[in-house]
Amino acid sequence: MQTPLNTGRILIIDDDEAICYSLMRVLSLHGFEVKTAKSGQEGLDLADAEDFEVIFLDNRMEGMDGLETLQHIKSAKPQSMVIFMTAYGTTQTAIEAIKYGAYDYIIKPFAGNRVCDLAAAAAEDRRENLRLGGGETRSFLQGDDYREGLVGESEPMQRVIKTIGKVAASDATVLITGESGTGKELVARCLYKYSGRSSRPFIPINCAAIPENLIESELFGHEMGAFTGAVQKRVGKFEQCDGGTIFLDEIGDMSPAAQVRILRVLQEGEIQHVGGSETIKVDIRIIAATNKRLQEAVEKGHFREDLYYRLNVVPIQMPPLRERITDIPPIVDFFLQKMAGTPGIGARRISLDAQRKLMACHWPGNVRELENVIQRSAIVAQGETILLKDLPCELQPASATPDSIGKLSEAAAPPNPEPPSRILPESDPPPIVIGGAVPPNTMSPDETFDLIYRQIRENNNQAILLRIEREMISRALGETGGNQVKASQLLGMARVTLRKRINEYEIRY
Ligand SMILES: Nc1ncnc2c1ncn2[C@@H]1O[C@H](COP(=O)(O)OP(=O)(O)OP(=O)(O)O)[C@@H](O)[C@H]1O
Ligand SMILES: [Mg+2]
Repeated sequence: MQTPLNTGRILIIDDDEAICYSLMRVLSLHGFEVKTAKSGQEGLDLADAEDFEVIFLDNRMEGMDGLETLQHIKSAKPQSMVIFMTAYGTTQTAIEAIKYGAYDYIIKPFAGNRVCDLAAAAAEDRRENLRLGGGETRSFLQGDDYREGLVGESEPMQRVIKTIGKVAASDATVLITGESGTGKELVARCLYKYSGRSSRPFIPINCAAIPENLIESELFGHEMGAFTGAVQKRVGKFEQCDGGTIFLDEIGDMSPAAQVRILRVLQEGEIQHVGGSETIKVDIRIIAATNKRLQEAVEKGHFREDLYYRLNVVPIQMPPLRERITDIPPIVDFFLQKMAGTPGIGARRISLDAQRKLMACHWPGNVRELENVIQRSAIVAQGETILLKDLPCELQPASATPDSIGKLSEAAAPPNPEPPSRILPESDPPPIVIGGAVPPNTMSPDETFDLIYRQIRENNNQAILLRIEREMISRALGETGGNQVKASQLLGMARVTLRKRINEYEIRY
């Protein structure tokens, strides 16, 4: 479909000429008027002198980097719509950029139509903001280095990361929902790390683990003699956490009495000890999480509707792993790096076949289950590489579940499609190391395309094609010890194109 022609002035700030040129080309073709700057300072000067509706800003630049430039732009011209460009694998930077007031972020390499859509949306939002007389995005400065490790750059994870960046600095109540092991607590910690409360306590409370008759006393404290066994006065978690963040985990399992009291904290900002009459003011930010469907619990009368709406100010829905299987390789790499140096664990890599199998598996326990599998396999592995045979044999193919790859492929393929197990060789082939040798042809090209196509459809993720190219180039460079001539011959790609791609994809070797 032809993109309608746009009007608007755009500034691109990037010290990579190839990126500036290709962005300028695609945006100009779609009707934008584009200027470029090759450094943060040059960009600031231009933005100062002229009015731009949208600014594309690269993060990694010589001299003033993107985050610093962003802060200057936002303080000089708060109404600027900045689209931040990050490299693959820099989630933390993306969160920071959104927190500092970037309109959105995109991960390199990106598709031309996505860039144009984003620019058009940003320009439109800016016009709307100006019309309404506003346009200032709240930013929050904080130099804390975030290392909790929220890995994943699939489309659904990008949405989560963007929301984290937007709400972290506010005191808004957040309700995180999602299946078990999808990273709800990790996101809660991330929100806390990036908030203005990060120097105050973060207290996680597992509402399901505390006996119903004790939860109120645990949260709000009690007076001496409030109940049998209350031999002395006790200060509860809410008072201990004053000025901080309380993470109410498994909130769907909270007793009705405790629900009433939580509602009061949210409405009035005050608590009462069990058995006491004095009201105590507390300053708490609440982040809640559950793997239950709270809306259904409300309908069934198990969860208070008023509390649900008070908690659900900012909802974050964690996507299950099956909806983001392209995140599996980077998450596996992350776990392997995390385990490096642990006594008894020598594995540093995973074979391509083993990785392929992980991507085709059913993950009811989501990322937590994947982490356990990697840990176990890394212990079992005899060398530095986890092989197919090192994976636990009880792993189920995703085709065993109704909403799996198998079902999606049914819609596209003729009746009786090949079972997904065919994508795996019967016997364990020789190890293929990622970043190492080129794999032997264990799948036919058609089978390979089938697998990739299913993944693109399932994730609705066009970036996969670009990732494939990036991955192939990284591997060729890995195999040839970084020799660009040999790598270009191996890939059948002109040297000049290879060099261009290395720059565009920011491949380091
Ligand atoms: N995107 C991710 N990147 C890296 N590690 C992750 C990611 N998501 C989850 N993990 C890891 O997976 C494990 C489970 O995550 P977490 O405890 O946050 O999940 P949860 O949704 O709270 O699970 P549950 O519902 O069972 O309480 C943790 O070790 C966490 O660090
Ligand atoms: Mg949890």
